[in-house]
Amino acid sequence: MKITLGLETSCDETSAAVVCDGRKVLSNVVVSSLKEHQAFGGVVPEIASRAQLEVLLPVLDRALKTAKTKLSDVDLLAVTQGPGLLGPLLVGLSAAKALSLALGRPLVGVDHVLAHAHAGLLADSSVRYPCLALVISGGHTVILRLDSASRHRVVGRTIDDAAGEAIDKVAKMLGLGYPGGPEIDRLAKGAKSSPFHFTRPLLTSDSFDFSFSGIKTAVFYEVLKLKKNKPLTPTMKRDICVGFQEAVCDVLVKKTLRAAASEGLDTVVVGGGVSANSRLRQRMAAEAPKAGVRAVFPPLALCQDNAAMIAALGAALYREGRRDTLDLASYPDFVSAGPRR
Ligand code: KG4
Ligand code: ZN
Repeated sequence: MKITLGLETSCDETSAAVVCDGRKVLSNVVVSSLKEHQAFGGVVPEIASRAQLEVLLPVLDRALKTAKTKLSDVDLLAVTQGPGLLGPLLVGLSAAKALSLALGRPLVGVDHVLAHAHAGLLADSSVRYPCLALVISGGHTVILRLDSASRHRVVGRTIDDAAGEAIDKVAKMLGLGYPGGPEIDRLAKGAKSSPFHFTRPLLTSDSFDFSFSGIKTAVFYEVLKLKKNKPLTPTMKRDICVGFQEAVCDVLVKKTLRAAASEGLDTVVVGGGVSANSRLRQRMAAEAPKAGVRAVFPPLALCQDNAAMIAALGAALYREGRRDTLDLASYPDFVSAGPRR
């Protein structure tokens, strides 16, 4: 399969990508409806669905043009099947099915969380299976052992909020915009220390599960206490961001490196929107080598939601024998991890 066309429409980003031989990204076009959701403080599913409908075909055209590829050159269709918002997912899934039928080309459904996990292998061709993956996004936080494109095992996961979810909620408490991650990252940048030290749930437990809602609640009560006396000053907000970011990074870095040791793996690939965080990258770069681990972070374009990671994993799954039919169904949750405990 030489040319894979990938489509990603699981949430507020609409993306189409052309990937050659499952490795070489010829185009990766992403358009976001984020601005339409900002007034509501989060993604509104109906607005996201309509935006997907409006922009998918222009995005697809642009991806083909940028890659200097015609639809008739496409050998394989790869599409995000889930998890995500059902309306947006159905737009991409329907388009991919229609293209598969019209072009007479095979179709492969791809899990969005697993695509984030495998993005590090697309970004760095020296990464080999088996490796450990840390996926940290707005909806999911999970540590996976990857043995091939189609074989993985969940090593740890959040038992409550996803890291990005907690980050966005803390940003909201501080009156910062949505999504909160980039803003917290920006405010905390360069700070040496903070007077705020927040709890690190499950840090010393034997399991590799995370809990982020406790850190979020600790920030909530601290903000409540401070606001009783006077409104938060910009310095207080910055110090809270630093303390909170440090707590989140601490559990992510320490537990992931411990999981790598327990699995006997020396490479960790990190993916998902939160992997853009500069402090996390800094701490992983400092601490992973001490643990004998190589940490690979994809470039930002492959950390955030994008169709190149869908096309790449779709092509790899196809090589491993995966074939889907036109009755491919979407799903809202990360099925591979089972229900939250
Ligand atoms: O993977 P993603 O783009 O979408 C989902 O599949 O959820 O992740 C979005 C999440 C949001 O919670 C956002 O606040 C967070 O990624 N994020 C960040 C940064 N950039 C985005 N979190 C921390 N630091 C950042 N620089
Ligand atoms: Zn994502």
